[in-house]
Amino acid sequence: MTKTSTEFLSCSPAATEAFAAQWAQTLPPDTVILLMGDLGAGKTTFIRGVARGLGINEPVRSPTFTLIHEYTIQQPEHLKGLPFFHLDLYRIETPEQLSTLGLEEIFERGGIVAIEWAERLELGGIALTAAQVYEVRLTAQTETERRITITPKQNR
Ligand SMILES: Nc1ncnc2c1ncn2[C@@H]1O[C@H](COP(=O)(O)OP(=O)(O)O)[C@@H](O)[C@H]1O
Ligand SMILES: [Mg+2]
Repeated sequence: MTKTSTEFLSCSPAATEAFAAQWAQTLPPDTVILLMGDLGAGKTTFIRGVARGLGINEPVRSPTFTLIHEYTIQQPEHLKGLPFFHLDLYRIETPEQLSTLGLEEIFERGGIVAIEWAERLELGGIALTAAQVYEVRLTAQTETERRITITPKQNR
């Protein structure tokens, strides 16, 4: 298992999206992406890029109120037809709330799952069973610059 991080310095929302779109196309099925970073760091922007890379043309909005959005991956060929889930756990405050989301069932679908405020998973009780887990950390450097650090957490 390799723990080497990849770092990218983004100078605009468009650059963040383009980087995420390219990266998304390299992902294997059954991948969970844990997004970490403050409000406004660019988590949703990054996920918008991932969705674009997966050929999803519907607008990607923050699922802060509905918590979970599901899309169907259109590309690349090795992921086509699998689900792409976008979750935002910002409002999750207890292990009980976390367990009602049905995260295990989502992971079992074998697609790509992107989770904003993934820190909330530390409330407990959720087994990360995906084949591949990445932590993507976004840090605002200036108004328009973001440091994006991708660390593989799990690979089985
Ligand atoms: N390089 C950049 N990458 C991503 N977003 C950026 C960048 N520079 C400025 N921004 C701005 O930062 C904000 C990020 O918002 P958003 O993606 O919703 O963050 P989060 O989901 O982490 O709260 C947007 O207003 C976006 O235009
Ligand atoms: Mg967001």
